[in-house]
Amino acid sequence: MKIAVVGTGYVGLVTGTCFAETGNDVTCVDIDRRKVEKLANGEITIYEPGLEKLFLRNLKEGRLNFTTDLEAGIKDASIVFLALPTPPGEDGSADLKYVLGVAEDIGKLLTDYKVLVDKSTVPVGTAEKVHAAVAKNYTGEFDIVSNPEFLREGVAVDDFMKPDRVVIGTSSERARKLMGELYSPFVRSGNPVIYMDERSAELTKYAANSFLATKISFMNEIAQLCEKLGADVDMVRLGIGSDDRIGKRFLFPGIGYGGSCFPKDVQALVKSSREVAYDFQILNAVMDVNEKQKLHLLPKVRRYFKDDLKGKHFALWGLAFKPNTDDIREAPALYIIEELLAAGATVTAFDPEAMKNVRQAIGDRINYAENQYDALKGADALIIATEWNEFRTPDFLKIVTSLKNKAIFDGRNLFDVAAIAELGFHYESIGRKAVTQHNK
Ligand code: UDX
Repeated sequence: MKIAVVGTGYVGLVTGTCFAETGNDVTCVDIDRRKVEKLANGEITIYEPGLEKLFLRNLKEGRLNFTTDLEAGIKDASIVFLALPTPPGEDGSADLKYVLGVAEDIGKLLTDYKVLVDKSTVPVGTAEKVHAAVAKNYTGEFDIVSNPEFLREGVAVDDFMKPDRVVIGTSSERARKLMGELYSPFVRSGNPVIYMDERSAELTKYAANSFLATKISFMNEIAQLCEKLGADVDMVRLGIGSDDRIGKRFLFPGIGYGGSCFPKDVQALVKSSREVAYDFQILNAVMDVNEKQKLHLLPKVRRYFKDDLKGKHFALWGLAFKPNTDDIREAPALYIIEELLAAGATVTAFDPEAMKNVRQAIGDRINYAENQYDALKGADALIIATEWNEFRTPDFLKIVTSLKNKAIFDGRNLFDVAAIAELGFHYESIGRKAVTQHNK
């Protein structure tokens, strides 16, 4: 099949590459000339494990092409995906100017039947708006489909190639057939393609992300309670997670959810609810809990240093909002850094992938280390903000010899409490017993 993908950001690039991988002829369109040149020359523009190999192969074999020319890009395509940004506007609602702008442009260019697919996360009712935007300039036949993505950064290729489900929202039989055909190689193992109307598909995306964010905030509150009641959140997690109705996944407490999706989507759903005079009470609490959770480690750090962080120096392991990505959008680490700097402390950070982005965002307000152990040198304590695998079994001897105090504040529960107590560390994590040692 011939496919066009408009927008070569994260979702667009993964979508285009994965459709090329199943033998389709894919043209990706973007207005950013430099980016298109880079991509056409085999230079991948995002960090996503496993993507580069597929990208290069499909590029080489001619199934994946890049252009800035929308007209040429969509000319022969039977399906055109819109994978455009929907940044939150000032009031928290998704800004549709890019999606609707491109829809209008496409309307001017259409000469035959095509299916236009909303891949971006867009508020309920957007499919109708996209339809109207195209129809401004085109009176022929076309269909709009809402086909939300459920890709996690770091495992996006796997999520795309082996989806738990594919959601296709359309009221057109013709579009439904084409979309079913396109997705058939991805659901051979029997995972469902769920067909529904456009509005339900649009809401499904927000409901999925908001539900997962709720699960996290709920566990973060249970963790708070564990600390106060002397229970262990890891045990509670295992105890509840083995109930199928609850499920084992997404029950890990931490220092809050971040990234490009959860914070934006929860906020947007609250806003959409308000517009139809519905107060989505749970989600207000979910956001509130998350804001507080990002800074949950700081009172512990302050207490240890007797409320005086002035002149203290901290090693920070992890900057990305989660492991296996260089994405720092809404990353808890950035909030922690701001608090530490405001209190007069200094920070040396290490992250395997995200240091470049942080340097771009906040420059030299903190120091950056070559590796996780260099970050420790001369630090008063270690703070852990991202659960990169390489932080999980560190050389504790090196930590002991580099830190001024044997103190670790762990926002991701990486270490076994009993084992670390044995090593003589002061160790505080989330929802588990604190191991307290005196600050020298
Ligand atoms: C998410 C959704 O999973 C994906 O389906 C959607 O399309 C986009 O948003 P992503 O933002 O890449 O994907 O990250 P994900 O792995 O889902 O984690 C989101 C956040 O939740 C991270 O900040 C992570 O640290 C946090 N999290 C996750 C927890 O705090 N505890 C958990 O148990 C799981």
